[in-house]
Amino acid sequence: MERLEGKRAIVTGAGNGIGREISLRLASEGARVALADLDEEAANKVAGEIGGGETLVHKTDVTKPEEVEALVARVVSEWGGLDVMVNNAGVGIAASAPDTKLDDWQFVIDVSLKGTFLGIKHAVPAMRESGGGSIVNMSSIAALVGLKDRAAYCAAKGGILALTRASAIDHIEEGVRVNCIAPGTVETPWVDRITAGYDDPAEAKEIMKARQPHGRFVQPEEIAAMAAYLASDESSSVVGACMTVDGGVTAR
Ligand SMILES: NC(=O)c1ccc[n+]([C@@H]2O[C@H](COP(=O)([O-])OP(=O)(O)OC[C@H]3O[C@@H](n4cnc5c(N)ncnc54)[C@H](O)[C@@H]3O)[C@@H](O)[C@H]2O)c1
Repeated sequence: MERLEGKRAIVTGAGNGIGREISLRLASEGARVALADLDEEAANKVAGEIGGGETLVHKTDVTKPEEVEALVARVVSEWGGLDVMVNNAGVGIAASAPDTKLDDWQFVIDVSLKGTFLGIKHAVPAMRESGGGSIVNMSSIAALVGLKDRAAYCAAKGGILALTRASAIDHIEEGVRVNCIAPGTVETPWVDRITAGYDDPAEAKEIMKARQPHGRFVQPEEIAAMAAYLASDESSSVVGACMTVDGGVTAR
């Protein structure tokens, strides 16, 4: 029997990078996966890649309360409940606090932190009705160590870690586990976007790679493996945890 057989899962930011890989992995382990992304075309492509498994694509902006509510309601109405919620959608910008424009601060906090809050807010009641569930939030090593020129991003990811622990304590007695993953630098389109803001993007990319003690970027498949573990019943005693998958960055 597949580890995630019978599980009904939502992945936000499922169209690209880490979210795409998590969606493929959950489906390959037997889950039904709802692919939620602003970019519907990208989510549809991932649904095509999953092929055989049952999927559902739902265009969602995680910053909009009514859209997150509708996403969860659709999964419950089509599949009869919700077992796994992966709050993965997130954005980052590269700047220190004085150099961060107020609009950029708000954008990063809205997508990453408010989006995660809304995911938890609407997933918990659905999971309660389903007899329990697992929520996996995408934090970052930016929550654990100070990263240069990432003020808003560090704040958002630190908020996700604190919200993960608070929600884990609030909902464990209802059978809902809440955990987060703290990836190091993962090779996704996000890395190219964030380094594009530097005078020498190639050099900035090399610096990001060198930050990893194991000397390479983390691969999205490695984050997906952790997400699948946290989604599964094998992690039943893992509650309010922050699972680092960072090549050793935070071991320094
Ligand atoms: N790549 C890394 O090095 C790294 C490291 C640590 C944590 N993370 C986190 O992992 C998550 C995924 O990152 P990634 O590298 O795969 O990024 P990515 O940019 O490659 O993919 C992000 C996806 O989220 C979607 N998205 C953006 N805003 C959205 C919104 N408002 N509503 C719904 N979907 C939205 C995008 O359309 C895209 O498909 C993010 O939370 C990111 O902060 C990434």
